[in-house]
Amino acid sequence: MSAETFYVTTPIYYVNDAPHIGHGYTTVMGDIITRWHRQRGEKVWYTTGTDEHGEKVLRKAQANGVTPQEWVDKLVEEEWRPLLRTIDAANDDFTRTTDLRHLEGAQAFWTALNERGAVYQGSFTGWYSVGSEEFVGDDDVVDGEGDDEGIKVSKLDGSRVELISEDNYFFRLSDYQQKLLDFYEANPTFIQPESARNEVISFVSRGLRDLSISRSTFDWGIPVPWDADHIFYVWIEALLSYATSVGYGSDRERFDEVWPASIHLVGKDIARFHAVIWPAMLMAAGEHVPHRVFAHGWLLVGGQKMSKSKANGIRPDELVDTFGSDAYRYYFARALTFGSDGSISWEDINARYHAELANGFGNLASRVAAMIGKYFGGTLPASGEHTDAELTVVDTVVDAVRDADAAIEAVAPQDALAAIWRIVDELNGYITSQEPWKVAKTAASGEGNAGDRLATILNTTAEGLRVLAVVLNPVMPKASAVLWESLGAEAALGALADQRIDAVAAWGQLPAGTTVTKPASLFPRIETAPTA
Ligand code: ME8
Ligand code: MG
Repeated sequence: MSAETFYVTTPIYYVNDAPHIGHGYTTVMGDIITRWHRQRGEKVWYTTGTDEHGEKVLRKAQANGVTPQEWVDKLVEEEWRPLLRTIDAANDDFTRTTDLRHLEGAQAFWTALNERGAVYQGSFTGWYSVGSEEFVGDDDVVDGEGDDEGIKVSKLDGSRVELISEDNYFFRLSDYQQKLLDFYEANPTFIQPESARNEVISFVSRGLRDLSISRSTFDWGIPVPWDADHIFYVWIEALLSYATSVGYGSDRERFDEVWPASIHLVGKDIARFHAVIWPAMLMAAGEHVPHRVFAHGWLLVGGQKMSKSKANGIRPDELVDTFGSDAYRYYFARALTFGSDGSISWEDINARYHAELANGFGNLASRVAAMIGKYFGGTLPASGEHTDAELTVVDTVVDAVRDADAAIEAVAPQDALAAIWRIVDELNGYITSQEPWKVAKTAASGEGNAGDRLATILNTTAEGLRVLAVVLNPVMPKASAVLWESLGAEAALGALADQRIDAVAAWGQLPAGTTVTKPASLFPRIETAPTA
């Protein structure tokens, strides 16, 4: 049997509009986590993509006077694929729900469920939210206030609901209430964090109604194979993209190799769909349920959830154009707690960019290379005997790498970066306390073993930078590549992406004699950062 694939997904995003930094957030966190796991030597598969059917996208296309297919093709090519380049994502696949493999896989799935008796025909009268593409139970509908005065809204997320009446097909979701509750109990890490888990359990405990799985009043969707008057309800085909993109319905061998997903990363707005409907669908089909659904919090702008519908979204390239993709990735991973809501601001990015990246890390890299250039002609000296100061550096690195790895395992990138920054701070403190420039003067006067001491200090800092390049590569691949190059590490150690995080803390890997060159500034100061 082949080793298990670490399969991670982002939501597939609606193409009703262009991406904002909320979408960039989930995709960047998934990218950091999967790059990290790749550098642990694991088999990894990372998928993102677009959710293109449904009424919300259809209405947007109509409002723009184009066909839905024209609309989604344009948005995907001009906005959603370019987002991945902007934020430097290394996804393995990009899946579209208008792909043929998805249509065929989704139809195969529902044909199987229909044959197993999990589907029946009925009629539906009730509330529907186009904004969240969700059927909303009567108990969850309330009178709107303020801008929504006179309109019914969903208690679940505040979105507006409309009364619809359609002949539909239903999935026997109500059969799964107890099975799901038992499943959550037996798998306490299935839905994380705890707040999302509690919300899901309380939602299911209140009772599950059978779910309408088809729509018949418009036709922008995947046809129900046994009844051409119906298309599938957008969510129940969108969730299936996680399976159809890895072979469900087209390549069973591939599917069995990759499935089940290791982590579905989602925002908490859609945790319910992933932790209730999705496992029930899979149980009904006799397929494995994903290992984990991790629901992160919302990026808030002026205290409000940023959203495409509210048009208060900040485009990722607004930040990347100024700060670069590395700093963008670093900022969202470091400044927010994955799993909680958080506010971001231009001032905060700017402050962290200069304090942590330019002064803390970038400056360290250039100082060390400059000193090796100045005192050793750019050739890495061999280390002499380690004193307590060097032993502390080595210990700090070992502990920090171990803690960072545990944090990534726990889906807590902010803690991983906090651990890694202990190395940055330790190395800066070490240079300050060891004062290599003074040791160099003593060495120049030929006194004692100062030359040996200077070599030890610079060798130690260069080794520390080697470790930083490797463990920061998943977060800041561009700067890490520049640093790797500056350390002359590739010749001796091979490509940066092949460096194993589980072996990185073993000391003394950069061989003496390696050519070290001063890197271009990793994080140049930004003089005129515009304010958002
Ligand atoms: O829900 N803060 O798509 P969507 C943090 N197509 N993350 C945010 C965010 C914010 N303010 N706004 C959006 C859908 N996100 C469905 C998913 S999956 C089978 C189908 C992120 O375009 C976050 O990941 O509304 C959230 O869950 C997702 O975008 C919703 O994207
Ligand atoms: Mg949404």
